Amino acid sequence: MPATASSPLDAPPLQWGVIGAGWIADIFARSVLGHTRSTVQAIGSRDAGRGAAYAQRFDVPTVHSGEDAYERLVADPNVDAVYVATPHALHRDHALLAIGAGKPVLVEKAFTRNAAEAREVLDAAPDVFVMEAVWTRFLPHMVEARRLVADGAVGRVVHVAADFGGSPAYDPQHRNFNPELAGGALLDLGVYPVNFVHDILGAPDAVRAVGTLAPTGVDMGETVLMDYPASGAQGVALATFEADTARTASITGTEGRIDIAAEYYRPTSLTLTRGGRAERVWSADAPLGWQFQVAEVARRVADGATESPVMPRAATLEVMEVLDEVRRQLGVVYPGE
Ligand SMILES: NC(=O)c1ccc[n+]([C@@H]2O[C@H](COP(=O)([O-])OP(=O)(O)OC[C@H]3O[C@@H](n4cnc5c(N)ncnc54)[C@H](OP(=O)(O)O)[C@@H]3O)[C@@H](O)[C@H]2O)c1
Repeated sequence: MPATASSPLDAPPLQWGVIGAGWIADIFARSVLGHTRSTVQAIGSRDAGRGAAYAQRFDVPTVHSGEDAYERLVADPNVDAVYVATPHALHRDHALLAIGAGKPVLVEKAFTRNAAEAREVLDAAPDVFVMEAVWTRFLPHMVEARRLVADGAVGRVVHVAADFGGSPAYDPQHRNFNPELAGGALLDLGVYPVNFVHDILGAPDAVRAVGTLAPTGVDMGETVLMDYPASGAQGVALATFEADTARTASITGTEGRIDIAAEYYRPTSLTLTRGGRAERVWSADAPLGWQFQVAEVARRVADGATESPVMPRAATLEVMEVLDEVRRQLGVVYPGE
């Protein structure tokens, strides 16, 4: 494990309960069980069969299923912390369930549909730990990239760029494309490159976006420009559901550049180039990657904190405000917003 990122195995254990037995819930369990000292104590699933299958796959002691599955999950005395792994449109309600039960909560990205919902959740939790599951911020190469930037290795940052494009099959009912579930490339994929730019440059003064819409009215893809006139920097975040992009990221400064290899949102390598020469290549060499954020939650909860300094509440709000502005410019509105 690189010296710049402490091992997830050093973090204290936490007993997790998972809301929703979908795709990412599987990855979460594999990350927790394989790479931390924490456990998955209970699964909440609307469907008894799906819940039981999940419990069997990961040796989870308790299944809460049926209409009030999620309510019973958050009330389970063996659950210390709740992981919300449902579609975006449901994050607010499910985060509020956990907060109402006084349980620390890790909410999948995008945190909520919009900044107003994000504020509502955060305001409801003055004393409860809440974090958006932007796992990419905790990856070892991001720890190293932030350190290099802070140490002045690239000089004054003038440009930050990241892209995330994939090509899922078009299905108007799937959460990717369904407006009822707050679909669209921006909330699903764009949240990563926007977070990458925000991680390095903070909240932008202005946002400009161009994009295309899917037949359901959600965004199919966009290019987002984030402007920082005070420092003279710009950020570019690209997301699409129509094509597999390079999935790389870069931080360019007056003295050098950091290039993060594909796929920059998983554990990978970075190259520091200065004076036209690749001066240093640094590689993370870690499995999966989600365990770093799981360990962060365990550490902060053990410390009695209500947020993580790496993915603080302010970052969630500022990123949600960027996403809101992008959707406003593209004309994407979710039902009931
Ligand atoms: N961090 C990452 O790398 C990553 C990767 C993929 C997705 N995600 C995020 O994780 C979240 C879930 O994505 P996913 O791909 O795991 O989705 P998914 O496979 O569709 O699973 C979502 C789960 O939510 C529950 N759910 C509750 N109400 C629902 C409704 N009305 N419609 C659909 N599902 C409902 C269901 O669980 P039960 O029926 O079992 O209750 C379902 O299995 C999203 O926020 C997504 O952006 C993160």
